[in-house]
Amino acid sequence: MSEQPNPEKILQTGLGFWASKTLLSAIEMGLFTELARGPESFDAIIGRLGLHTRSAQDFLDALVALGFLERSGDRYGNTHETDLFLDRRKPSYIGGILEMANHRLYPFWGHLTEALRTGQPQNEVKQGGAGLFETLYADPARLQEFLASMTGISHSANLAIAQAFPWKEYQTFVDVGTAQGDLAAQITQANSHMRGVGFDLPEVAPIFEEYVSALGLQDRLTFVPGDFFKQDLPKADVVLMGHILHDWDLPTKKMLIAKAFDVVPEGGALVVYEAIIDDDRSQNAFGLMMSLNMLIETPGGFDYTGADCSGWMKEAGFSETRVEPLVGPDSMVIGIK
Ligand SMILES: C[S@@+](CC[C@H](N)C(=O)[O-])C[C@H]1O[C@@H](n2cnc3c(N)ncnc32)[C@H](O)[C@@H]1O
Repeated sequence: MSEQPNPEKILQTGLGFWASKTLLSAIEMGLFTELARGPESFDAIIGRLGLHTRSAQDFLDALVALGFLERSGDRYGNTHETDLFLDRRKPSYIGGILEMANHRLYPFWGHLTEALRTGQPQNEVKQGGAGLFETLYADPARLQEFLASMTGISHSANLAIAQAFPWKEYQTFVDVGTAQGDLAAQITQANSHMRGVGFDLPEVAPIFEEYVSALGLQDRLTFVPGDFFKQDLPKADVVLMGHILHDWDLPTKKMLIAKAFDVVPEGGALVVYEAIIDDDRSQNAFGLMMSLNMLIETPGGFDYTGADCSGWMKEAGFSETRVEPLVGPDSMVIGIK
């Protein structure tokens, strides 16, 4: 007897933004950073966060029911995960992407239907004028928030790439569009023989240098300012591109892959990583929704499958390619020259 149809998953997904926004508001108010000092009483929390008494208990208990807080009597505390990943003072903090999502993506995604009908981005560039990065980078606070958010979304994959890729066969790398420099830092930290370069727009330099020197890696890791539309990439054995190709349309993706091919030696490699969509385009929901996020955020960006990327790499001249899963929805596509 086939199972009775059940509307639960439909309702859960349809109203999923309730849970998201409850968590995003807690991060926005710094609740988990506050509780990283230890569990606190209900009265202490509403005082510190400035919560109105009408729904404060519902809010905190919803976070308990969602598994983001623990409660004992009237004292609330972080769980192991929220204490490790959502305390702003810890290097393991991944909240940057969630702060940016709360501040920017949550309101922009409210216009997804319009974007699907017009094919037009729904973010700051909607009103015309400069591109995403120019708009964001004109404001130092948004620049810092955006670059930190990239570390948040990429940190786990960066740790995996630093371990999984055969770095012992190489000496140098360049991370194109390096943002705060977390991937470059993880590779350098895990592989003492490697020397690297972070390549990005000039405005990014001070934020990269602060991040790298805080980790004591400035002797083996340097920043090269530049614009990949206007100049060649720095030469290296390995070129890395994380969440770069998905920002752009197909001709630009191919231009960037060709630029990488030009600067690596025989036997050198291009490593592309993102939420690579499965070739059947039916499993990696996060990768497919990230592609919708590129609709919201960019004029022509889209995510793609491992087969797509391998084909573009072969077209550029890379002799062999392979796709390797990393963590969660992320994978890397490797092209060898
Ligand atoms: C979506 S972020 C990815 C950051 C990082 N690779 C990661 O995966 O977390 C895109 C990066 O590309 C950089 N970028 C954008 N346009 C660029 C250009 N024309 N030349 C060089 N870098 C650029 C941005 O500054 C930003 O750091």
